[in-house]
Amino acid sequence: MVIRRLVVFLFFAVSGSAGADGWDPTSKASNRFSINNTRHNLTVSFNPLQRIMNIARNDYLEVCVYCHTPHGASKRVDAPLWNRTINVDPYLTYDKPRTLDRPIGQPGPNSLTCLSCHDGSISIDSIINMPGSGLYNKAQETTVNFTFLDAWPGEGFDGRHFVLGPGFSQPGRCTICHNSNSPTMPDYEGFVIGTDLSNDHPVGVQYPVTFEANVDFNAPIAAVSGRMSYFDENLNSFADTREVRLYDTGDGPEVECASCHDPHGVRSGSDGSTFSPSFLRVNNGVADNGTSGTAGIVSHGASALCLTCHIK
Ligand code: HEC
Ligand code: HEC
Ligand code: HEC
Ligand code: HEC
Ligand code: HEC
Repeated sequence: MVIRRLVVFLFFAVSGSAGADGWDPTSKASNRFSINNTRHNLTVSFNPLQRIMNIARNDYLEVCVYCHTPHGASKRVDAPLWNRTINVDPYLTYDKPRTLDRPIGQPGPNSLTCLSCHDGSISIDSIINMPGSGLYNKAQETTVNFTFLDAWPGEGFDGRHFVLGPGFSQPGRCTICHNSNSPTMPDYEGFVIGTDLSNDHPVGVQYPVTFEANVDFNAPIAAVSGRMSYFDENLNSFADTREVRLYDTGDGPEVECASCHDPHGVRSGSDGSTFSPSFLRVNNGVADNGTSGTAGIVSHGASALCLTCHIK
C-alpha cells in the first residue's frame, strides 16, 4: 500500500511538475472562491499533509494573519495593515537593455510585500502581531526575532522558522524538502525570486505618461489620483482586481509585483471559475485542457497580460 502510494506521487511529480509558466497544476489547492484555497494559505489547510509543515513554520490557524493584522500593523511599509517583516536592505535592480530611458528605482511597497517571502531572506511566519494577546513585537517590522516567534503557544517548533529558499541542502529553508530531488513534494526552487532582481521583469520602473505614436505602450485609461493608474477594462471607474495597475508612490506610475499579480487570487471568469494561474490579474494564456489544475480556467488569450501594457 505504501509503495503504491509512492508510485502515484512519483507519477504526479513527473507528469505535472511546475510547468514553464511557473505554476503547478498538481497542487491540492483548488484555486477557486477564496485565498483559503490557494498556496497563499500558509496554514495549508487545503492539503491533507498540512501538519508536516509544522516543523518549518508556526501554524497561526488563520489565513490573513501571515500578511495582515487588524491592529499594530507595520509603519515601515505603505501596504494595507501589513503584518510582516520587510527587508530594508537594497535589491539589485533590472540591468538589461530597456526601450525607454526612464529611471529604475528600488522595489516600491507593492513589491516589498511579496519580496518579504519571495526574496527568500525572511521567515514565512515572521509577523509583527501573532494572534492572541501580548504576542506583539514592533521590532519585527524590520528584524526577524526567533525568540519572539517561539512564544507562539500553538503548533510549530521552537527555532524552526524557515525561509522559502533557495537551496537543496541547507537547513532552515522550505526548499530542503520542496526541491526537484524530492518527487513527492512540489518543487519551490523556481518561486524564490531572491534579492537579485536583475533577471526579472523590471519593478520600480516608471511607466510612460505620454503616448506618442513611437511609444509602444498602451495608455492606462483611469487613475486614482496620487495612488495608481489602471486599465479600466469594464469602464466602471474602479480598479478591479482583474485590472492591471501601475502604482504611484511619488515618482509617477510604476510597475510593481502587484501590477501583474493579486496575492488573493483572481477569478479567470465568472463566480466559481478557477483563478488565473500564478495569482495573475490577467490569465496570460493558460487554457482549460481537461486536466485537474486547468478545469474551469477561462483563457484570456495568449500573452494577454503582457499585451495589456506592451504594444507588440
Ligand atoms: C509584468 C508582469 C509581472 C511582474 C511585474 C511580476 N510578475 Fe511574477 N509572474 C508574471 C507572470 C506572467 C508569471 C507566470 C510565469 C511566467 O510566465 O514566467 C509570473 C510568475 C511568478 C512566480 C511563479 C514562479 C515563476 O518564476 O514562474 C512568482 C513567485 C512571481 N511571479 C513573483 C513575483 C514577484 C515577487 C514580483 C515582484 C518582484 C513579480 N512576480 C513581478 C508576471 C509578473
Ligand atoms: C519536511 C519536509 C517539508 C518541509 C520542510 C516543508 N514542506 Fe511543505 N509540504 C511537504 C509535503 C510532504 C507536502 C504535501 C505534498 C503533496 O501534497 O503532494 C507539502 C505541501 C506543501 C504545500 C501545499 C502544496 C499544494 O499545492 O498542495 C505548501 C503550500 C507548502 N508545503 C508550503 C511549505 C512552506 C511555505 C514551507 C516552509 C515554511 C514548507 N512547505 C516546508 C513537506 C515539507
Ligand atoms: C500572502 C500574503 C497575503 C495574505 C495571506 C492575504 N493578503 Fe491581503 N493583501 C496582500 C498584499 C500584498 C496586499 C496589497 C496588494 C497591493 O499591493 O495592491 C493586500 C491587500 C489587501 C486588501 C486591500 C485591497 C486589495 O485587495 O488590494 C485587503 C482588503 C486584503 N488584502 C484583505 C485580506 C484578507 C481578508 C485576507 C485573508 C482572508 C488576506 N488579505 C490575506 C497580501 C496578502
Ligand atoms: C507570507 C509569505 C508570502 C507572501 C507575502 C507572498 N507569497 Fe507568494 N507564495 C508564498 C508561498 C509559501 C507560496 C507557495 C510555495 C511556492 O509556490 O513558492 C507562494 C506561491 C506563489 C506563487 C505561485 C503560485 C502557484 O500556484 O504555484 C506566485 C506566483 C506568488 N506566490 C506570487 C506572489 C506575489 C506576487 C506576492 C505579492 C503580491 C506574494 N506572492 C506574496 C508565500 C508568500
Ligand atoms: C503593467 C505593465 C506591464 C506589463 C503587464 C508587462 N510589462 Fe514588460 N515592461 C513594462 C515597463 C514599464 C517596462 C520598462 C520599459 C523601459 O524602461 O524601457 C517593461 C520592460 C519589459 C522588457 C524589457 C525591454 C524593454 O523594452 O524595456 C521586456 C522584454 C518586457 N517588459 C516583456 C514583458 C512580458 C513578456 C510581459 C508579460 C509576461 C510584460 N512585459 C508585461 C510594463 C509592463
